[in-house]
Amino acid sequence: RTDRTFTMLKPDSVEKGHIGAILEKITAAGFKISAMKLTQMTTADAKEFYAIHKERPFFGELVEYMTRGPIVAAILEKENAVEDFRTLIGATNPADAAEGTIRKLYAASIGENAVHGSDSDENAAIEGAFHFAGREIF
Ligand code: CMP
Repeated sequence: RTDRTFTMLKPDSVEKGHIGAILEKITAAGFKISAMKLTQMTTADAKEFYAIHKERPFFGELVEYMTRGPIVAAILEKENAVEDFRTLIGATNPADAAEGTIRKLYAASIGENAVHGSDSDENAAIEGAFHFAGREIF
């Protein structure tokens, strides 16, 4: 079964010039890019996207970080996409991320952790629709 997941290469990845290297890891792992763009979230966008975290102590910091510059948003297609992509990116905290994972290679800290990966098929669909119109998804 072919599924989709949603990712963002977060502002730190764009700032550090890591877009190409990260996309190379993603495509080398067998993910097909179904949608992709450089975009910047507004404060309102980030508060809505991360609404599930609004009571967390790091919410303000998270919104600041995710809105401070452009991100690369993308929808990725692969068999078992959500789970395989989370394996490819590694643990939320790069200190706990496995060798060779995107976060181990490119993330600075638990807050600035380089990439997002959806945690379920349902959220992948919601998050993809948040960033892309139907005609932008191939
Ligand atoms: P992600 O799992 O993609 O989505 C929630 C984000 O909140 C997470 O990545 C981190 O960027 C951020 N986050 C999670 N835990 C912490 C924390 N303890 N301190 C700061 N930021 C965090």
